[in-house]
Amino acid sequence: MRDAILTYDGKEYRLPVVTGSEGEQALDISALRKQSGAICFDPGYVNTGACTSAITFLDGEKGILRYRGYPIEELAAHSSFLEVAYLLIYGELPKAAEFAAWSDSIRRHSMVHEKMRRFYDALPKEAHPMAVCSAAIGALSTFYQDSLDPRDPQQVMVSIHRLLAKMPTIAAYSYKTSIGQPRLYPKNNLDYASGYLRMMFGTPCEDYEVNPVVAKALDTLWILHADHEQNCSTSTVRLVGSSLANLFASVSAGIFALWGPLHGGANQKVIEMLQRISAGGESGKQFLERVKRQEEGVRLMGFGHRVYKNFDPRARIIKKACFEVLEQLHVQSRLLDVAIELEEQALADPYFVERKLYPNVDFYSGIIYQAIGIPVNMFTVMFAIGRLPGWIAQWVELQADPTFKIGRPRQIYTGAGQRAYVGLADRD
Ligand code: ACO
Repeated sequence: MRDAILTYDGKEYRLPVVTGSEGEQALDISALRKQSGAICFDPGYVNTGACTSAITFLDGEKGILRYRGYPIEELAAHSSFLEVAYLLIYGELPKAAEFAAWSDSIRRHSMVHEKMRRFYDALPKEAHPMAVCSAAIGALSTFYQDSLDPRDPQQVMVSIHRLLAKMPTIAAYSYKTSIGQPRLYPKNNLDYASGYLRMMFGTPCEDYEVNPVVAKALDTLWILHADHEQNCSTSTVRLVGSSLANLFASVSAGIFALWGPLHGGANQKVIEMLQRISAGGESGKQFLERVKRQEEGVRLMGFGHRVYKNFDPRARIIKKACFEVLEQLHVQSRLLDVAIELEEQALADPYFVERKLYPNVDFYSGIIYQAIGIPVNMFTVMFAIGRLPGWIAQWVELQADPTFKIGRPRQIYTGAGQRAYVGLADRD
């Protein structure tokens, strides 16, 4: 591929073309400022590739998503969340012995330090669980000071196992604390999803029977959320990690980034939107009219995506799973009816068609979470548990990148020119 030529201020600059393994192309501007004095301006990084990555391939025009080359549809149908986590982090599907050792280790690191109990008690009862989880993951760096060096492979490996293993415990404890119930110790004989469900819904008073349909649904949802290349929270994890901050600190920041309603927080907003419409305040049609008038703060939550300008492949799988889970659990959901109606109307409406707005991963996930008993304010935490392997894989890849640099975007300053300080008494 020939270099691109940029003409600027009477001079020509050669921009090498970088080609990815699936043929995507980028113009390499890494030397542009040095050579020309100009930087690139790209609000929201819509056209900016900040790294090369061999983890996830995503084609938003065609609706393709693959982890390490494996289509998301195949992984959702045949794999398990822990196997996908291994695949994302280590690059290959584990052999049987590798998987046994991996899942055994994750199972055995699931307990959190006893002092963490007091940590939970110190926070307000009504705190949002995303804030609690982020704080708790950050706090892991105070308990495991022996494994914080991002450049020591052994320490990183231990941190990865601890983080993945303790995340369900940390998440379930944030919920238990909020409802004033005792926190259960993890049970190491259970699989990842079942262990989490037991800590969420069990009490010390009686045994908790995990429904395999529910555990399978959760596992599948986590697979679908496990990575999504350079989205807002993953970019946050990379940016924080680029200062050589430890893995716990980087992931804690990623959880906060995910919390926002335009990112992972959308699943909670979707269900709240469906509940409002279902409660009869306004019809789906009336709501869509307000969306189309672009009233302040009114969007069809769970629709649209920065990268997908076609169906989000995860949304297709989740919609199907949603029907299956509701049927298997014999749940009638008025919210599902509202969601189907909104989807049908939106997909036939020029406003959404012209803007290429399709259902995203969050449109149907909340209905499944609700059917399996997950409280609404835990929806985004479910996403965070699922996204954890992706954050870890991307952070590990960053640390090993031969072009590693601290992340530091530039700006175009538009503020006041130099001016002299005016004393308080002299300001009118
Ligand atoms: N409802 C109504 N209109 C929308 C929506 C929506 N959900 N999404 C985008 N649009 C409109 C915008 O108003 C804009 O219209 P305009 O050109 O007339 O101004 C146009 O579509 C382009 O929208 P942008 O906001 O510029 O698109 P961007 O790529 O920046 O945003 C985003 C993507 C944030 C996901 C957006 O589609 C959105 O807010 N969706 C709803 C929230 C949501 O579901 N987020 C979850 C995303 S998936 C995830 O993070 C896991």
